[in-house]
Amino acid sequence: MTTAVRAACVIGWPVEHSRSPLIHNYWLKRYDIDGEYRRETVRKEDFAAFIATLAARGYVGANVTVPHKEAAFALSQPDERARAVGAVNTLWLEDNVLRSTNSDVEGFLDNLDACAPHWDRDAGKALVVGAGGAARAVIHGLMSRGVERIVVANRTTSRAEALQASFGERVQVAGWARVEAELADAALIVNTTTLGMHGQPALALDLARLPSHAIVADIVYVPVVTPLLAAAKAHGLVTADGLGMLLHQAVRGFALWFGKTPEVTGELRALIDADLASAK
Ligand code: ATR
Repeated sequence: MTTAVRAACVIGWPVEHSRSPLIHNYWLKRYDIDGEYRRETVRKEDFAAFIATLAARGYVGANVTVPHKEAAFALSQPDERARAVGAVNTLWLEDNVLRSTNSDVEGFLDNLDACAPHWDRDAGKALVVGAGGAARAVIHGLMSRGVERIVVANRTTSRAEALQASFGERVQVAGWARVEAELADAALIVNTTTLGMHGQPALALDLARLPSHAIVADIVYVPVVTPLLAAAKAHGLVTADGLGMLLHQAVRGFALWFGKTPEVTGELRALIDADLASAK
């Protein structure tokens, strides 16, 4: 009797741009696991039917990307992280129950731990720029690690206020015009907006205003070194890039589906870095 190969996929619309197949297939090969990871192009209106038949399609789980992250949340049993973010990017079947998490939270934290060990030892104030779904994952992560004060600045102030309403008083709102003034006592700044992404304007801030021990993180990974990170490096500041976060967020899904906690190696980073560079 042959056993079916364990398989997972990334579900999205569009899904061609996703680097998840490259990451997971690298790990499958590296650990010599007889598994598969595929792309599944699924329209919004077909998503519920698709995940209802996940097991029948031979899948033990999946990643979910645009535009399905909120629908996946509603159609699965989310863990605490997914509930805090309100969106899901990782699904897995456990005793016929479709469970879910948002691995951006640990992707962000694990990458920060790797780039700036002990960053949370004396993390007084963090400045989060942006107030979308990625900001929710970052804020939840920072709060879970004991950051006392998180100032959120967003172009649309009402979205930052909505985050304060859901996360509580450790989150404060700064007007968009005050971003630069907020740098003076920030131990960490995180860009969660699309600013700095290929084709978008840069998040241009005078980083000389930051304390010299400050850490600068960006969730954008195209390009890997955003103008913000380039400026931070030029000022001698420690940085954490979006590629690192992308790789670290993939760890949990792989472990859940294929039973092995994979390592984020320099070789994997170079592989994805080269792919991102060649796609430009
Ligand atoms: P995600 O869920 O990936 O975080 P999103 O919800 O679309 O995506 O959020 C994108 C973020 O980038 C928002 O904070 C957005 O600001 P608004 O809430 O004001 O739209 C921010 N953003 C995008 N383009 C921007 C720009 N040109 N200037 C400033 N902020 C921008």
